[in-house]
Amino acid sequence: MVKKIAVLPGDGIGPEVIEAAVHVLKAVAKKTNQQFEFHYGNIGGVAIDEEGDPFPSSTEELCKSSDAVLLGAVGGPKWDQNEPTLRPEKGLLAMRKNLGLFANLRPVKAYGPLLDSSPLKREVVEDVDVLIMRELTGGIYFGKHEREQVNGEWQALDTLTYSESEITRIAKKAFEAAKLRDQRVVSVDKANVLESSRLWREVVDRMKTDYPDVTVEHMLVDNAAMQLIHGPSQFDVILTENMFGDILSDEASMLTGSLGLLPSASLGDQGVGLFEPIHGSAPDIAGQNIANPLAAIASTAMLLKYGFEMDDEAKAIDDAILKALEAGYRTKDIATEQGAVSTTTEMTEAVIKALR
Ligand code: IPM
Ligand code: MN
Repeated sequence: MVKKIAVLPGDGIGPEVIEAAVHVLKAVAKKTNQQFEFHYGNIGGVAIDEEGDPFPSSTEELCKSSDAVLLGAVGGPKWDQNEPTLRPEKGLLAMRKNLGLFANLRPVKAYGPLLDSSPLKREVVEDVDVLIMRELTGGIYFGKHEREQVNGEWQALDTLTYSESEITRIAKKAFEAAKLRDQRVVSVDKANVLESSRLWREVVDRMKTDYPDVTVEHMLVDNAAMQLIHGPSQFDVILTENMFGDILSDEASMLTGSLGLLPSASLGDQGVGLFEPIHGSAPDIAGQNIANPLAAIASTAMLLKYGFEMDDEAKAIDDAILKALEAGYRTKDIATEQGAVSTTTEMTEAVIKALR
């Protein structure tokens, strides 16, 4: 059966890392006799420039008629002064919302050959294997964002809302994921201050009886930020709301050595899934063939696993990434001072070579 993949390269380094990812998917197809079709669309800044909308309806239709969506990154200084509705990020948020992608899976696992690339000590990071389950279509990202004049000055407001059903469905994803892992969930919130967090805690506690084998702990987000540096291997699944998950996942990337390594999957209860690196568009290094393609390539492994249930093919990609690292290939972000530096294309070739 032919699988149709919507490819949305986006802005900055997006096109480079997505080109790498597509090369890898083509190599997998060749090796395993799978058939993938790639259909390109616009999102983010490039979509604003070409179609006047950061998430054009043509792209939405493409996504909805595809079996999976592969995305690069959005944003850049060119559009930073745009009005809120014409910002590249708005396109990404609209896509997540319109496709119902409420669960964002961000796995963080240390790669053996890169243990010394983390700014943290080897013994702190070597056993790290965390899955961050980030809520993706609610909370402060999707609340009111307003400004008004009050007493002669501007006042701005952003509201943070969660309903029981929104909390239940993401918590369920975390519990289900934990069942397939080490059966431990740490639910991260700010229940000492926020009412939405207190509701979050209540709902998670209520669900515990449905998952007797899974242990649940609640942790305040400030403590969780500290614990991720102090003892990151204590975590199995971290369940958290949208903005905390955004912040903690960037922090957690440093456990692996680089933001350029982490993939993600965004899923709903049905319909198409979205697969993208967690890093941004990195406009400062765009177009130079120096970006790390491994986060995008690892995202294709998640696409095959969660999107197409092709577990063997997914594992082949993950193994190939590891082999390329074992063979010593390092893009600039993970290179050591003395070591050689690979370009984006050299790293991609190394992964493809390891696949064959
Ligand atoms: C991410 C990004 C996005 C987010 C931005 C680009 C809107 O930082 O996917 O983590 O905040 O969700
Ligand atoms: Mn982010």
